[in-house]
Amino acid sequence: MSNEFPHNRPLAVVVLAAGKGTRMKSDKPKVMHELAGLPMINWLLKSCEALNPDKIIVVTGPDMPELEAAVKPHQTVVQETRDGTGGAVRVAAPLLAGFDGDVLIVLGDAPLMSENTMRNLVAARGDSPLSVLGCLLQNPFGYGRLILNEQGFLHAIVEEKDATPEQKTIQLVNTGVFCVDGAQLSGWLEKLDNNNAQGEFYITQLPEIIGSAHKMVVSVTPDVHETLGCNTRADLATLEGHLQNRLREQFMESGVVMRSPETVHLWHDTQIGEGTFIEPNVIFGPKVKVGKNVTIKGFSHLEGATVKAGAILGPFARLRPDSVIGKDAKIGNFVEIKKSKIGDGSKINHLAYVGDCEMGERVNFSAGAITVNYDGFQKHKTIIGKDVMVGSNVNLVAPLHIDDGAFVAAGSTINEDVPADALSIARDTAKIRKGWAAEFREKMKQAKAKQAKKKA
Ligand code: UD1
Ligand code: MG
Repeated sequence: MSNEFPHNRPLAVVVLAAGKGTRMKSDKPKVMHELAGLPMINWLLKSCEALNPDKIIVVTGPDMPELEAAVKPHQTVVQETRDGTGGAVRVAAPLLAGFDGDVLIVLGDAPLMSENTMRNLVAARGDSPLSVLGCLLQNPFGYGRLILNEQGFLHAIVEEKDATPEQKTIQLVNTGVFCVDGAQLSGWLEKLDNNNAQGEFYITQLPEIIGSAHKMVVSVTPDVHETLGCNTRADLATLEGHLQNRLREQFMESGVVMRSPETVHLWHDTQIGEGTFIEPNVIFGPKVKVGKNVTIKGFSHLEGATVKAGAILGPFARLRPDSVIGKDAKIGNFVEIKKSKIGDGSKINHLAYVGDCEMGERVNFSAGAITVNYDGFQKHKTIIGKDVMVGSNVNLVAPLHIDDGAFVAAGSTINEDVPADALSIARDTAKIRKGWAAEFREKMKQAKAKQAKKKA
C-alpha cells in the first residue's frame, strides 16, 4: 500500500496519454505502439501498479477505444481538445476532487520509467508542494530545461521552443514526471495560461504558478534510459533496444545462459527456466514457456510453445502456437511443429513438419517425414502412440491413428490406421536392371559423336 512511503500519504497517479503522436506517422495512438509485444502504456502501468497507488487515471484522446481497453481496469478520462500537458492534467482534476495526498503525474510516452525512480520522487517531495524528476542529458535538445535557484531548488521549467540561447545550453532536463500536493493541484491548474510558443497549456508552468518562494525539489535520476521519451519511430526502436537489454539481464540473473545476449529477442511474457542455454539469434514470440535445462540452438523461432525440461531445439527449429515439447525431446534443424504435443524423449531431428498431432513418448520421426493435416478445407489430427518408428519421407495423411510400437516404412504415404506393433509400408518395390546405366551412358556418347560429325 501507499503507506510504504515514509510519509504515509495516499497516492494517485495520472498518466498523460492523449497525444496523437503525429511524429510517429501512424494510425495508432502513440502509447499503443508495442515494446516486446506489449503496448508502451502497459509497461508504464506495470511500474505504476507496483507502487500500489489508491488510483490510476489515464488521460486519453477522443476516439481511442483500443487505448481505453488496454488500460482496464484503470479509470480513463477523455481530453476532448489536445491543448497541452497542462490541459490533460486539468481534465483529470475533477476525478481527484477532495483527494488529499500525493499526485504523481507521468507521461505515457516514457514507458521505461521504473517503480523505484517514481517511488524516490514521491518520497523526495516531503513537505514541499512539488518534486520533479530531472535528468542530465548530453544532448538535451527537445526537452524542457530545469532552471534552478541558488539553493538548488526548482525555479522554472522552460520548453525548448520558449528557451533563450543561454537556457538551451542547460543539460538538466524535465523528464515529465512530477509529484504534486493533491490538495492544492486544482487551484494551481486554474492559473495555467497558454502564452507560449505553442499556444498550449503546459504542465511545466506549475513551478512558475507555485512560486519559487516555496522550495520545489528536483530529484535527478542517473538512469538516462528510463526517462527516454518516444516521439518517433526511431525513438521506439531505441526504447525496444533498452527494454530487450533489461529483459535479458533479468533472465541471466535468474540463471539463464546466453552466449550472445544482444542477438536473443524476447517477448514481454516469455518464461525461461534456470540452466537453460540459448545460443545466438533466437527469437521468442508471444506466450512461450521454456522449462529448466533446455538447449535452444541458433536461429530458432518460438511462438506459443511450451518446452519441457531437458529438451534440445534447433538449430533452425520453428515452434508454432499450441505446441508442447516433452521432457528430453529433440527437435532438430528445419523442423516445424504446429499445434502438436510431442511426447517425452521423442526425436524429430531433421526436415520435418508436424501439425495437429499427438505424439507419444520415444517416437522417432525421421528426416523428411510430415503429417498431411490439411485437405484444403479442414485440418485433421494425427495420433501417434509411443515407441513408434516413422521412417524418412513418410506422408501421414490425417485423420490417422498409428498405435504403440508400430513401424512405418520410409517413403510411404499412409492413409489407413496402423495397429500396434505392425509394419505399414506403401511404396513400389525397387526394380534392379543390371548393367543398364553403363549401356545408357554408351548410347548417349554415340549419339553425341554423331551430332558433332553432322555439324562438321
Ligand atoms: C514534454 C514536456 C517536456 C519534457 C518532455 C519529456 C511539457 C509542455 N513538456 O514534452 O518539458 O522534457 O515531455 O519527454 O509538458 N499529452 C496529452 N495531452 C496533450 C498533449 C500531450 O495527454 O494535449 C500527453 C502525450 O500523450 C504524451 C505526453 O503527454 O504521452 C507528453 O506529450 P509530448 O507532446 O510528447 O510532450 P513533449 O514535447 O515530449
Ligand atoms: Mg514526448
